[in-house]
Amino acid sequence: MWDAKEYLKFADERSRPFADLLGQVRQQECRRIVDLGCGTGHLTLTLAERWPAARVTGVDQSAEMLAKATPLAIPHRLEFVQADIADWSADGPVDLLVSNAALHWLGDHRGLFTRLAGLLAPGGTLAVQMPNRFRTATQFAVEEATADPRWASRLQGVGLHRESVMPLTWYVDLLHDLGFAVNAWETTYVHVLTGENPVVEWLKGTGLRPLLERLEAEEQADFLRILSERLKADYPARGNTTLLPMPRVFFVATRYS
Ligand SMILES: C[S@@+](CC[C@H](N)C(=O)[O-])C[C@H]1O[C@@H](n2cnc3c(N)ncnc32)[C@H](O)[C@@H]1O
Repeated sequence: MWDAKEYLKFADERSRPFADLLGQVRQQECRRIVDLGCGTGHLTLTLAERWPAARVTGVDQSAEMLAKATPLAIPHRLEFVQADIADWSADGPVDLLVSNAALHWLGDHRGLFTRLAGLLAPGGTLAVQMPNRFRTATQFAVEEATADPRWASRLQGVGLHRESVMPLTWYVDLLHDLGFAVNAWETTYVHVLTGENPVVEWLKGTGLRPLLERLEAEEQADFLRILSERLKADYPARGNTTLLPMPRVFFVATRYS
């Protein structure tokens, strides 16, 4: 279950990569746009504003996130659909397929990206951003907390892991082979967070959800305590601020005609 309120706590920090991704999309004319894993829909709305002639569809499987998105719908212009990206398919060729901070939740990236590439019209664009923190201290801390014998067997194989996102060149190679011109880059954003345990708060809005869901309330508190201790050591507070470096991969791939 996604918690929109928890996710939106860091709305400004989380929307910047979307703007940076869309800054590299050169497509002038778009009739059909899809936003995969659209979440609360606020960023999907900006796609409808930028391409006023397009029909825009936001796809997400979370009823909680879509409850925020649905009031933003505009008849014949912007709609939201509840579906799992793994088996969702477009109703016709797509000019722009966007996905911001969502596709790392899906497995089998070779199969997934091959299928998504096939949904694009000739000259169409696939624009993707994914967080790439799965070989950083945040992930190692989560792995350590997960390994506690009280719940290790229940949490084994659950949630995000070191292979959730492949090296960026892997995606570039795959998309080249599928007949795309690719503009790819990696950026580390340094988020300046405030408050008590802000790194745990950040993770609670995303990566920790599937793990916490499988724990009883008392276990959740213990899990978060273990994690907080480790993260406080890895990301020490400087007065009231804590710096969280967050690497992200981006690619904007355009299909040859
Ligand atoms: C981190 S949020 C990003 C939301 C939005 N794109 C943004 O940038 O604010 C990830 C979203 O992906 C959705 N998601 C994850 N796996 C999905 C799947 N298999 N099918 C559909 N949506 C999925 C989640 O429900 C969540 O709303």
